[in-house]
Order: sequence, then structure tokens, then C-alpha cells
Amino acid sequence: MRRLVSKDIENLLPYVAGKPVEEVEKEYGIKDVIKLASNENPLGPSPKAVEAIIRTLSKLNRYPDANTCRLKDLLSQRLKVHKESIVFGNGSNEIFELLVRTFMVPGDEAIIAHPTFLLYQKIVNSAGCHVVKVPLKNMTHDLLAMSQRITPKTKFIFINNPNNPTGTIVLKKDFEQFLKYVPENVIIILDEAYFEFVQHTDYPDGKEYINSKPHVVSVRTFSKAYGLAGLRIGYGLMNPELANYVNRLRQPFNVNLLAQVGAEAALEDEEFFRKTRETIWEGLKFLYGELDEMDFKYIPSQTNFLLIDVKRDGRQVSQDLLKSGIIVRSLKEHGLDNYIRVSVGLPQENKRFIKAFRSYESLWENGS
Ligand SMILES: Cc1ncc(COP(=O)(O)O)c(C=O)c1O
Repeated sequence: MRRLVSKDIENLLPYVAGKPVEEVEKEYGIKDVIKLASNENPLGPSPKAVEAIIRTLSKLNRYPDANTCRLKDLLSQRLKVHKESIVFGNGSNEIFELLVRTFMVPGDEAIIAHPTFLLYQKIVNSAGCHVVKVPLKNMTHDLLAMSQRITPKTKFIFINNPNNPTGTIVLKKDFEQFLKYVPENVIIILDEAYFEFVQHTDYPDGKEYINSKPHVVSVRTFSKAYGLAGLRIGYGLMNPELANYVNRLRQPFNVNLLAQVGAEAALEDEEFFRKTRETIWEGLKFLYGELDEMDFKYIPSQTNFLLIDVKRDGRQVSQDLLKSGIIVRSLKEHGLDNYIRVSVGLPQENKRFIKAFRSYESLWENGS
């Protein structure tokens, strides 16, 4: 019988999203559930973005600007990047998909870390291409090992910097060393979704490379620091020649009208941006202190989430926390069986997480 789908599609697993708050509330018969599972902005959306969106609602009969010109002007000035280097997408996820569809042909390879953001593999495999997984070293990308896996079939190297789910970064000096080993026909995609949360001073800023190293692409999002995950808008910064090819595939209205005006306003919302970083950085400090006191190990994070070694099955721990109305992420599918990933929340949410964690800890210690 003729196959309905290709083998590559057959082998894909559906994305397992974090449980929505409403579903957990219904299932466990509880109220006040908090979600610390998807690395969203705990403060909500940028208020300026919300105002701009409300003002624009009456224009929804119109198609959006196919080239996202106003936002492109604004971002180009802000980042000091040529307009021709910016491509917007329906979330940064769409940028990864567009890059793969534009530059990879069936049989090509992409080198990725393991564990890293799961979407890269899905997108690469669905294009009939293969991923070469290189294990992390000390929980961060092993750039030397990744460069050693380059073959004539390699088209992309994905570097998630900072990496989800570990929260670690590759340092600027290591990245610049790595660049010397990567030929110019291999495109390096720096996924910088958590760029705005990085506190480390030796962090490479992807946009600084796109002109001198035209095979480096930086991909960013409005979903995290700007609080606009539900709107779906992200962007790629790349050499104009690459951007020109990607734009040939891109659907003209891929970034909807509300996302365009929301992102413009969010970029100007300096107060919200400042408060967001402060909330995350303070939240991380609080969590570190509490976990140190309980003697749990964690990976110091450059993001808005924290990877915690819970010393037992992370799935069981996340199930227990669900009963207390706290949604966190277990990492079995990443091969990190004894870990959970917790997004930094508001101060009261972080406290609730720690309180529940402490109460279960004594039960776990007693083997129940
Ligand atoms: C590493 C990484 N890249 C990209 C994204 C997706 O971002 P967007 O909402 O812009 O599609 C996420 C979302 O969680 C992420 O963790």
C-alpha cells in the first residue's frame, strides 16, 4: 500500500506542551494553579503592547504590512543592524523552520547539542534531513566536539545560547575559537531566545558577527523578555544575502497586525523590560538561596528558568507538585531523568514553589 506520509514524518513525535492551567485546575479540583513550565514572562505582557493592541483592534479588517516596515525600522535603529538583515517570523520557531526549508535539502545534516531545544530536531527531520547529536560537556555546548562532527553533508550547526533546558551559555572566547573551525558553507544558527536575561559578561552577541561572518545567524524572540509569547513574533538577524533567500519563502502576512504593533510598543516599554529582568534576576537569587539551604544542586542559569537536580525521578516530582497546583517541567524526554526545569515566577510564586518542594522533600526523604 502506498504510504500516506514519508518515513521522516512517520517517525516524528507530537510536541508535548506543558499542561494548561485550566486543565490542571479541572483535573485536580483546585484553584490558583501556577504555571512555571514554559519560561513565560511572569509579569504578563508589556502594558504598552496591550494598549497598542487595543487601539489596533478596529483595524483587523486590514491585512498587516507584509514587510513589517515600522517594526523593522525601529529594531534596525535599536540594534544597529541593517534593515535588510532582519526577517520577522510567527515566533522565532517560524524562523528556524524557514531557515531549514530555505537552505537544507533531503539528506543534509544539522549538528545539534544534546540535550537542547527539541524543536530543532523536529524541523530538521520533517525536511528529510538528519540531526547529529553531540552531548553537552559540563551541561554546556561542547563546541570542539561539534566542530569535529562537520562533514560535507553538514548544512547547519544549531547553538542554543543560552541553552534550553540547562540555562548555560557558550563563552565569547570559545565561540570565536569555534568560528575558526567552521567553514563558511556551514550556517551557524545562534538561538538567542533568552538573550535578554544573560548576566555573564563574556557572552557573544550574535548580531555582532552577521557582517564579518556571513554564515552566522542570530534568532531572537518577543516571547520571553517582552512578554508576548501568545502573539507569536520573533526575528532572525542575518547577512542580507541569506535574508533575501529566506524572504522568498516567507509568506507575506506571516506576522499578524496585532503582533506587529504589540512588538513595536513593547520595544519602547523600557520600564517593563527593566522590571522583567529585575524580577527574573531577583527570583533566581531567591531560588539559589533556598535550594542551597535544602542541599539540592542546580545549574546556575543565564535565563528565566532553572534546572534542578531533584535526586529522584523528575516525573514523579512534577506530578507531586501538580497536586499542589504548581506546573513545572520534567525532563525525561531530554534524557535528564532526575531533573526538573522551573521557570522563574513572581516572588510569591517562587515562594509557593519552594514551600511545596520543601513539604514533598520530607515525604521523599521518608521514601513515600
Ligand atoms: C530555546 C528556545 N528557542 C526558541 C523558543 C521559541 O520561541 P518563540 O515563542 O519565539 O517561537 C523557545 C521557547 O520556549 C526556546 O526555549
